Amino acid sequence: MSQINVPLLDLKAQYNDLRDELEPVIRGVIEDQWFIMGPQVAEFEKELAEYVGVKHAIGCASGSDALLLALMVHGVGHQKDQPRQQVICPSYTFFSTAGSISRLGAEPVFADIDPVTYNMDIEHTRQLAKNTTNLAAIIPVHLFGQSIDMDAWIALGEELGVPIIEDAAQSLGTKDATGTPVGSRGSIGCFSFFPSKNLGAFGDGGAVTTNDDALADKLRLLRVHGGKPKYYHSVIGFNSRLDALQAAILRVKLGHLEEWHTKRIANAHRYTKLFQENGALDSSVPLTTNPEAPAIRTPTGVADPARHIYNQYVIRVPAAIRDTLREELKSKNIGNEVYYPVPLHMQECFADLGGTKGDLPHSELAAAETIALPVFPELTDEQARYVVETVVAFVNQHAPQPA
Ligand SMILES: Cc1ncc(COP(=O)(O)O)c(C=O)c1O
Repeated sequence: MSQINVPLLDLKAQYNDLRDELEPVIRGVIEDQWFIMGPQVAEFEKELAEYVGVKHAIGCASGSDALLLALMVHGVGHQKDQPRQQVICPSYTFFSTAGSISRLGAEPVFADIDPVTYNMDIEHTRQLAKNTTNLAAIIPVHLFGQSIDMDAWIALGEELGVPIIEDAAQSLGTKDATGTPVGSRGSIGCFSFFPSKNLGAFGDGGAVTTNDDALADKLRLLRVHGGKPKYYHSVIGFNSRLDALQAAILRVKLGHLEEWHTKRIANAHRYTKLFQENGALDSSVPLTTNPEAPAIRTPTGVADPARHIYNQYVIRVPAAIRDTLREELKSKNIGNEVYYPVPLHMQECFADLGGTKGDLPHSELAAAETIALPVFPELTDEQARYVVETVVAFVNQHAPQPA
């Protein structure tokens, strides 16, 4: 096998394809000298709302701020003489899902995941909710580009009387089991335009989406310090605006998003086919229950009309060889990443919440066994085959033998 280069993500390839479209638009914003909010942001918000199928999309400075705004608009935070509020979220997610809760003075309560989809486990959440004293919201995450079961989560939110805030940072364009885009059915959808996301800005950016007119008005207010009219503040917000340059860039890129999704999905399906031709099973079979099969588990995938947009293509290998596989891939110039090596209930900063190893076994196992492979739209057939051959050869040689 001759060595080729496979970055985890190839943003330069994307830029080269879009250069002629992007540069006049960027120059236009510079000529206008209108950098904050303004027509580019307003147009992007309209186009994004249409794409997600919601009444309102409101730009903000990042996906993390989108989560903060969503929690703040629901009154989550420290309340004088009240017990600390609690918000349930997954332990196996990017830090800011939980960080946003803590930053507002509320307590994140960590739920385990479903080991097949890696998304938050609804039954575990139901159990946790029974033990909370002041539950204010739930934030399930559409992890890696795959939707949670929205029907079930909406029903749970109604049963418990709390809003479901969708962390859709990795899932713009993902569809749930009813074929509906994520971010449109919960109370609020939170999106990130971090450069590595399927729709990535040239810097930080984010948005919240909702069908609720009153929430939308308040979200718009909160992102400008709560001032309306300017310099008159009835509520305390903060500065979280999407800037015009990012909005202009995102408008161009949004026009290509469906085509990129199609390519990513095809790349993911090709990986799965190639791995399975080599005997790999999917994530519905734990690595321990079928030890005679090659020790690789592909994503399980979704059936129409659901759509997984593969912001990440994540496989499982035995924990004992996961990190050495990473080194092998690095030495063969294959980009890879571990999302996420330490579940949040085991993070040092959350030690005061009392979480310890063994509390959330599915999150802990996923943190030890998973590895994300390059799945960006421009990935070639040759690159994909090289990745699969390298992973399969290494795992077949090094995986611990079944007892
Ligand atoms: C699941 C999840 N939530 C929240 C965020 C935060 O988004 P940002 O990096 O734009 O603040 C991210 C992105 O990194 C994410 O993946």
